[in-house]
Amino acid sequence: MKQPKPVFVCQECGSQQPKWMGRCDDCGAWNSFVEERAVAVEPGAGPQTHRYSVAGLAASGAKKYSEIEASKADRISTGITEFDRVLGGGIVPGSLVLLGGEPGIGKSTLLLQAAANFANTVGPVLYASGEESEHQIKSRGDRLGVGDAPLYLLAETCIERILEEAGRVKPALMVIDSIQTVFSLKFQSAPGSIGQVREAATQFLFAAKGHNIPTFLVGHVTKDGNIAGPKALEHVVDTVLYFEGERHHSHRVVRAVKNRFGAVSELGVFEMTGAGLRPVPNPSALFLSERPTATPGSAVLCCLEGMRPLLVEVQALVSTSSYGTSRRMAVGIDQNRLSLLLAVLEKRAGLHLVTDDVFVNIAGGMSIDEPAVDLAIVASVASSLRNRPIAAGTAVFGEVGLGGEIRGVAQATLRIREAEQMGFTRIVLPLSNVDGSDEVGKAELVGVRSVGEALDMLLA
Ligand code: TYD
Ligand code: MG
Repeated sequence: MKQPKPVFVCQECGSQQPKWMGRCDDCGAWNSFVEERAVAVEPGAGPQTHRYSVAGLAASGAKKYSEIEASKADRISTGITEFDRVLGGGIVPGSLVLLGGEPGIGKSTLLLQAAANFANTVGPVLYASGEESEHQIKSRGDRLGVGDAPLYLLAETCIERILEEAGRVKPALMVIDSIQTVFSLKFQSAPGSIGQVREAATQFLFAAKGHNIPTFLVGHVTKDGNIAGPKALEHVVDTVLYFEGERHHSHRVVRAVKNRFGAVSELGVFEMTGAGLRPVPNPSALFLSERPTATPGSAVLCCLEGMRPLLVEVQALVSTSSYGTSRRMAVGIDQNRLSLLLAVLEKRAGLHLVTDDVFVNIAGGMSIDEPAVDLAIVASVASSLRNRPIAAGTAVFGEVGLGGEIRGVAQATLRIREAEQMGFTRIVLPLSNVDGSDEVGKAELVGVRSVGEALDMLLA
């Protein structure tokens, strides 16, 4: 038999070359080429004829738009409220979901909990793990109270074997932990390489669509925060969820970055406890629970994560610089944004910060990238500099422009309502947002036009 020609595939962008190269011409990555050799398959023996894939799925002809019945995707609950929320209301039958996150953040824990609930209420679940043995999964499951639901564990990394077991168990849900550890017999390259990952995703896609089995794929995240291996994976799956959070904090956030069946603006908040992940229905309370009151440098921000309003504490510390060069450090917000806002404070509000170190931190390990955080940063820095606290019942939000003007932000009403629910009695916000929110709530709305005005209102 003729040996198939080797190809070299860039692990960053998927570019293919006939010979090895030190640097990829397409994406510029260094040392990213890996040899991949496809095992020759007889003509016609592609994935379509694999016994557990969709024969006939691709064979249907084109249909007229109006003749296609609108199928209202019914959702199946995972039994975990916050998880259902990020999925857009539950699992869609036949969907392929990628759950990415750093090692140790709780991916396996969350999926095992969901799998256990699913097995208890819907039907058998196949949990294939290439990372842990059955015993390891079981000892974790004992802590999570899996009980004797029809949850099948399989410590296996060969895709063909996993699909064979799926054919036997006929699961109502399948979990693959993780996509980087599985390999197909059709490829000779190592598990985790772009060819293997792409092949695995495609095979599981066929299984999910063809047999209507919702499937979760666990994906590892590289140091720079991408799902390891290919972006190609994100195109294949229906939904991409990212697990975020800091190892040193107990709360975890699951965010949807792509969802073919729902809004991507959803967010699920969890707390890691001794008995697995616990949904946090009221995250604002969690983030504000340790807030010091009457301390200078602390401001409460009404931010919006997707469509979900959240109250978080922005902390600033301004102290005299000891070594001539002043330091500016930002945790949870963009460093450049902080520099910009400090320049606005200097120029437009007359604060003197050149000789000071400025540290800004979002409490609880959250990171915020929406402009509504500006006013809270400015307020907390000024509060620390002047050593005057912001009143405990006050919350703020608003974007700051380079001219020192306060600009309106989206969804002011949602933010105001959340702050009111959390018992805040005074909200300092952009003037243009006050007019838009005609609802008469309990809180006093203080509309401001400029940074100077805002600081007068907050630090009087
Ligand atoms: P895990 O789900 O194994 O992470 P991943 O699959 O994303 O790599 O979670 C691992 C961490 O969670 C581990 O450090 C221990 C902690 N944990 C708890 O605190 N409580 C629990 O009940 C469980 C199961 C795990
Ligand atoms: Mg794991």
